[in-house]
Amino acid sequence: MSVPTDQQHMEKIVNLCKRRGFIFQASEIYGGLNGAWDYGPLGVELKRNLKNYWWRVTVHEREDVVGMDGAILTHPDVLKASGHVEGFSDPMIDCRSCKAHLRLDQLIDKKGVKQCPNCGSKDLTEARQFNLMFETHVGAAADESSIAYLRPETAQSIFVQFKNILEVSRKKLPFGIAQIGKAFRNEINPRNFTFRSREFEQMELEYFCRPEQGMELLEYWKEERLKFYDDIGISRSKLHVRNVPDEERAFYSKGTYDIEYDFPFGRQELEGVAYRTDYDLSQHQKASGKSLEYFDDETKQRFIPHVVEPSAGVDRTILALICDAYGEDQAPDDKGKMETRVVLRFHPRLAPIKCGIFPLLKNNAQLVAKAKEVVALLRPHMHVFYDESGAIGRRYRRQDEIGTPFGITVDFETLGEKDPTLRDTVTLRDRDSMKQRRIAIGALVSTLRAEII
Ligand code: GLY
Repeated sequence: MSVPTDQQHMEKIVNLCKRRGFIFQASEIYGGLNGAWDYGPLGVELKRNLKNYWWRVTVHEREDVVGMDGAILTHPDVLKASGHVEGFSDPMIDCRSCKAHLRLDQLIDKKGVKQCPNCGSKDLTEARQFNLMFETHVGAAADESSIAYLRPETAQSIFVQFKNILEVSRKKLPFGIAQIGKAFRNEINPRNFTFRSREFEQMELEYFCRPEQGMELLEYWKEERLKFYDDIGISRSKLHVRNVPDEERAFYSKGTYDIEYDFPFGRQELEGVAYRTDYDLSQHQKASGKSLEYFDDETKQRFIPHVVEPSAGVDRTILALICDAYGEDQAPDDKGKMETRVVLRFHPRLAPIKCGIFPLLKNNAQLVAKAKEVVALLRPHMHVFYDESGAIGRRYRRQDEIGTPFGITVDFETLGEKDPTLRDTVTLRDRDSMKQRRIAIGALVSTLRAEII
C-alpha cells in the first residue's frame, strides 16, 4: 500500500543523524561509498542497545533458544545448496541514455510504457538477472577454486551448524538458534538513507519444530515480534502486518508475514517472519551428504525439522526508531521565550545516553565537584554525559535532540545552602514532559535503573 511520503521530514532526520553523530556516509572524505554507512558515537550506542535487547528477549529470557556467531566468509557449496548462487538475483535494466542501472520494479510505467525514473528515457535494455552476492577469493590464487562469498543472510550458517548445536545444547524440538551479524547484498540501487544498504546487519532466529507445528509457530512468532517493536517504543499505528501472497513468497515457504513500518519515504519492510519448511536443512543434507535429521526419543522417529524464521534488519529498525522518535515542539528558552525544540523520544532502554548531568554553574567549584560525584555514582550503572558548558536550557536542548531521557541538575539546594533538608538532593528532569522533580542522590541509581532496563 502506498502511504504519503515526507521528504522534508526525512531530510531533517538525515541532517540530525550527521550533525549529532548517529550515522555518517562510509568513506565520506573520499566521496563516499554508495550503500555503506558508518555509525558514529551515538549511533553505535543506539545499535548496541537494540541488539542487546533483542538478544536478551530472544536468547537469555528463553529456555528454548541458544545463540551462535558464524563466519561471514562462506563456502560456495553452502550457497549453491541454499539456492543463492543460482537464484539470489534481481532483474536489472540499463538506461541507454543516462547509463543508470535500475531494478525492474523501479521503472516508471506510463500507460504501459516503461521509462527511466532518472531521465525519463524509454531507451532501455532488456531485463537480465543480476546476482546480489558479493564474490571474493580466499587465499593467494584468484581462480574458480578459491571463490567464496560474503554471506547474503546470517541464516545459512545456522542451518549448516544445526547438527553441531543440537548436539552440544541437547535441546529438544521446538528450539531455536539465534544470530546477530553482518550480511551483504550488492543492491542494484541502494537508497532511502540506510534503508537499502549493501552492507547491513541482521537479527535472525531459526526456530526448529515438527512439521505439524509450523503454521501455529508462524502466528506465534509474528505476535512475539510485534510485541518486541512495542517494547522498544515503535508506534503500533505505524506498524503493519502484510500476509505475503503465494505468488510473492519463496516457493518453499508455506507462509510469510512482512512487518512493515511507515517511514517518511513510504511503507517498507522491517522484518520478515517466514515458515521455511524443511527446505534449507533438506538441501544441505542432500548436498553435503551429512545427516541433518532429528531423532525423537519418545516416538523413535527420525525426520528433518521444519523451521520458522523471524528475520529483522538492525539498520532498518534503527532508522525506524529514529524516524518514530523524531519530534518538534514548542518550549520556553532560558528567558521564557517560546522556541522550537527538536526532540528524539527514544524509549529509555534504547536511548544512547541515559542521563545528562549538569552543575547549575560551571564556575562554582562546589557545584562542579558535586556533579562529578553524581557522575561517578551513576557511571557504573548506565551511560551518562557530563556537561557544564552554556546556559542550563541549552544543555537540556542538546540532550533532548539526541534522545537522553533524563537530566540531573546539581544546584544550590543540593549544597544545602538554603534549606538543609534539601542537601544532597538534585532535580531530575523528564525529557518528554520537561517537568522536574527533586530526588535524593541516594535514590538515583534505583530510580533510573527501573526506567532503562
Ligand atoms: N533470512 C532471510 C533474509 O535474509 O531475508
